[in-house]
This record gives sequence, C-alpha cells and structure tokens, in this order.
Amino acid sequence: MLYKRTHMCGELRLSDEGKSVVLNGWVAKARSLGSLVFVDLRDKTGITQVTFNEDVPAEILDLAKTLRSEFCIGVKGTVKERSSKNNNIPTGDIEVFANDLVIYSKSETPPIYVRDDDNVDDNLRLKYRYLDLRKNKMQRNLTVRHRVVKCARDYFDEMGFTEVETPMLIKPTPEGARDYIVPSRVHNGSFYALPQSPQMFKQLLMVAGTDRYVQIVKCFRDEDLRADRQPEFTQIDLEMSFAGVDDVIEVQEGFIKRVMKEVKGIDVEIPFPRMTYAEAMERYGSDKPDTRFDIELMKLNDLFADCKFEVFTKTLAEGGDIRGICVPGGASEFSRKKIDKLVDEVKHYGAKGLVWIKREASGITSSVGKFFTEEELANVLDKCGAAIGDVVFIVSGTAKVTYDSLGFLRRRIAGLLGLLDDNQFNFLWVVDFPMFEEDEDGNLKAMHHPFTQPKLDELDKLDGDILSLNANAYDIVLNGVELGGGSVRIHDKDLQARMFKALGLTDEECQEKFGFLIEAFKYGAPPHAGLAYGLDRLVMLLLGEKSIREVIAFPKNQNAECPVCEAPAPAGEGQLEELGIALAPQE
Ligand code: AMO
Repeated sequence: MLYKRTHMCGELRLSDEGKSVVLNGWVAKARSLGSLVFVDLRDKTGITQVTFNEDVPAEILDLAKTLRSEFCIGVKGTVKERSSKNNNIPTGDIEVFANDLVIYSKSETPPIYVRDDDNVDDNLRLKYRYLDLRKNKMQRNLTVRHRVVKCARDYFDEMGFTEVETPMLIKPTPEGARDYIVPSRVHNGSFYALPQSPQMFKQLLMVAGTDRYVQIVKCFRDEDLRADRQPEFTQIDLEMSFAGVDDVIEVQEGFIKRVMKEVKGIDVEIPFPRMTYAEAMERYGSDKPDTRFDIELMKLNDLFADCKFEVFTKTLAEGGDIRGICVPGGASEFSRKKIDKLVDEVKHYGAKGLVWIKREASGITSSVGKFFTEEELANVLDKCGAAIGDVVFIVSGTAKVTYDSLGFLRRRIAGLLGLLDDNQFNFLWVVDFPMFEEDEDGNLKAMHHPFTQPKLDELDKLDGDILSLNANAYDIVLNGVELGGGSVRIHDKDLQARMFKALGLTDEECQEKFGFLIEAFKYGAPPHAGLAYGLDRLVMLLLGEKSIREVIAFPKNQNAECPVCEAPAPAGEGQLEELGIALAPQE
C-alpha cells in the first residue's frame, strides 16, 4: 500500500488547520504514553508532530505503539493547532491528529542517530552515509549544491555558453597532481588517465569554434587529502574565445553576484577587488588571502640588520627575511602555553621558531628579551603599530618560510580570536601570478599550467631571469580559500613551443604529451581564456561548512577510500589477466 502524499513534513502551518492531509516520511522520534503516541515524522523538508490517540481504531493505535526510530511510514490525519507550541521548528504551531497509518518498512536500531547535532565519528558517518544524508542539514546541503549548479547552468546559458561533455578516459593533463590511471583491455600495457581537468579538450573546443564552453565536470587528482581536497571533485569549468583577463573576470563576477543573490539572498558588490600575487604574498603571506580581518605581514629586515640576536643576523646574511604580524589585544590572550602550541604548528611551514614581543601596561616582555634592549624592542613594536595589550609574532627564514608560516598564523589566530565570520563573503581576484616556480628538486614548473600565456611584454625574461616572468593568470579567492583559477591561454604555436622548451621538455616529449593540441593550433586557434571553479568549495563556503565532504553525497575518507562501497578493492583474477597485468607480491 502507498499513500499519496498531500504535503511535505516541513510544510504545514497554522493556516492549514482543519485540512485532511497525508504525510510520508521517517520516524525521527516516537513516544508512547499509554493511549497516546507522539511521532516526530521527518522528510527532507523538516519535521511534523503526528499524534495518535484513542479516537483512532484500536488496531491503528496498537500499530502506532510499535513505531521505532527510522521506520518508514505513511500517515493520514487532520491538522490541528498545537496546545503547547514548539518554537524551534517551522511546523511547531500545529500537529497532525492521525486516523490511519501504514508502515512501509521497519528499521533496525540505526548505527548512527539521524540528528543534525549528533557528534559521531566521521568514518561511521561515511559508512552509513544514507542515514547521515537523511539528516535535514545534509539534505539542505545537497539542495543548495543543486541550486548552485542550476544557477550556473542558467546563467552561463544566458551568457551564450554551451555545455559540452569531454571524455573521462584520456591522456594525462598537466595539472600537477598524480593521475588516476585505468588499464586498457584492448591495448594491453597501455593506460588511460582520468582527467585532472578538461583543460586541453576545452581548448580544442575553442579551436573548434564553440566560442563559449561550460561544463559541470568531475575531475580526478591523486593528491594528499585536506578539508578542501578530494580525489574526485567537481569543477564548473569554462572557456571563452576572443577573451582576455577583463572579459573573463566580468562574466565571472556576474555569475558570483547571481549565485549569491539566488542562493544566499545577499547582494554582493562588483567588481571585486584585484590584488597582484606579489602584493598578496607581501601583505598576507598567501596567494589566497583571507581579507575578513586586518592582521597583515610586515617586513622587518631593516630593524634587525645590526642586532645581537644571531638567528636573525644569520638569516639576513644568508639572504633570508624577517617578517612579523601584530595581533591587537593578543598579549593577554596568548599565554606561553598557547604560544608553544602555535610554535609547534608553524614548524609545519618550515619556521624554526616563533619570536614574540608583548606590550602590556606593566612593560614589554619578549621571548628574546635578553638579546635586545627595551628600547630596541619598543622600536620593533612601534614599527608594527603595537599598542598596549598587543603582541607581535616574528618569523625569520627564507621568504617562503616567512610567508607560509605567518600566512598560516594570521588565519589561525583570527580563528582563535573569533574573527572569522562565516556570514561575511570577501571575494577577491589575485592576478599576475608568476609564470613559473621551482619544485622541491629545483626544477622549473608552470605555476598554473604550461598553456598559460606569459605577460607578452615580459617575454625577454624567458631567456633571462625566468622566475620573474609573470603570467596572465588569475585566481578567485573567497575568505582565504582558492575558489577557482584560470588564465589567458597561449594560442600561438611558436610561443607554446618556447614555453615547453623553457620547462625542459624535448620535442619528442611535447609531441608525446600534447601533440594533438600543438597540431590543432596549426589550424587557426582563436585567442582564448578560461577558468574553473571548485564547485565543492563554493558550496562549502556558501553553507559555512568546514569541509567539502559535507557537500558531497558520497565522499572519500582520509585514506581515499569510499566507506560505503569499500572501493578501492582488489580486481578479480580473470580481470587482471585480460588486462595483461600481474601484481607484484605485496609485503
Ligand atoms: P585548478 O587546478 O586551479 O585549475 O583547479 C580549479 C579549481 O578546482 C578546485 N580544486 C579542487 N577541489 C577539490 N579537491 C581538489 N583536489 C581540487 N583541486 C582543485 C579549486 C581550484 O581553484 N584547468 C585549470 C582551470 C583553467 O585554467 O581554466 C584547473 O583545473 O577550487
């Protein structure tokens, strides 16, 4: 038997009083008080209280008494005003007096509570994800994700973009992570890569005259997992022909404005601020600055040029830097014990230590007090703008170590001081990224990807100070998270060849890796530019969530496993044989 539903469980209000209704859903809670049974009935829209009393046929009341959490049921009844109202839920003014009940299926005692406030172990949540997703909050998250995708499709459609699907079984795309590879049965010994992004295919679509491309697309990257990284994630991927930096930015600002209005009801002001990569690093120690709070980095090299503290003088002699941040009101907040914890944390970013200087009403104190006169310390505090009650933290090391450590620390401290407001949305463009960076082994690699156009008036740097060459690349940043990134592309095959050469690729390697793109560029490639958003990150931030796992229906856990279906799993003997694969013995 299936009752045809008239309303959802989050819908009924006092204005519905007297209506005969039919609700379907799950038992969130059932309380039996003798001849009275109260049921909280839940579906994805909310909860309605259903009441069974002696007015219902005895067999229905008896059936109601058997109801337990997570039974899936249907109820017929009449809406009545509640005598004791529940102000915590939108349906709290009414209850449904039942006159009929059907149990669609019973439930064993669930291994996790289906309750938004349940603080259960993450792995258990992921294993029983279908119960976890039954929570109102999780259903809301999925709905908001859907809204964002719909808004993207509507907006980009109106702007003349065509959604095109690109293949999932491809050759590796150089986005910088490890590939997931898929063995070929037809070509034993050969492998497909799952796309790290559709980068080269969307560029081919520009050569093809598609003009404006969009795709909501799964991407795959085998990299270390973090709160905002998953092995498979979704991009809103875009490419535009006959477009430069400003054209891309203008279209994207329109999209963000629309999403913020439609999904959050917030009017954001456009254009968003733009900041060069160099400025972002110098002021915030990060290429994805969180600008919701005022703490900024300061370079202090000059102040310590002749000091007696050897750590600093040695750093300067080695060409390193000394940078600091001032934390207003931080002197009393950060006890030695708390600072010790911060020291441990900044060590992950290469800092050897963390110097602090406090200015308090009682005087100046510092972790390096014995190396400096009070006057010298006061001078540093003055330079950093520290008032009474403030603390200054200082890191010395390579420029990278000072940026990374203090970039991390300013945000960490803002978190501890409660300065990170989830309801404030600071969008920002970071532009003019360097074209290249060095990897850990000192090899040159493209900071964005090798199809990115260098600043055309800086091309002579290709043969000189190559690391100072800037690119027409941009990132969109929201509250300290890289939401998306893109660039103007090279559409000239000779310049593309120069870039590959600068990256140390031989002609054969270029041909092998990107031959099809180079070939396509022989036949009239238009100037083009694009960008890709991390959809998961965008939805996470819109919802104020701390991890993208909260906005992905079936995410991987920290070990890149799917706890629901238990992937990855060994392949069958026969399958491997067909693929021509023999496994090395496992230790
Ligand atoms: P990029 O590598 O910067 O650019 O990726 C674009 C955006 O995708 C998101 N993202 C991720 N989200 C979750 N988990 C991950 N592992 C992950 N990796 C990336 C980020 C990021 O900003 N083809 C280029 C785009 C272009 O040039 O048009 C690209 O993929 O939000």
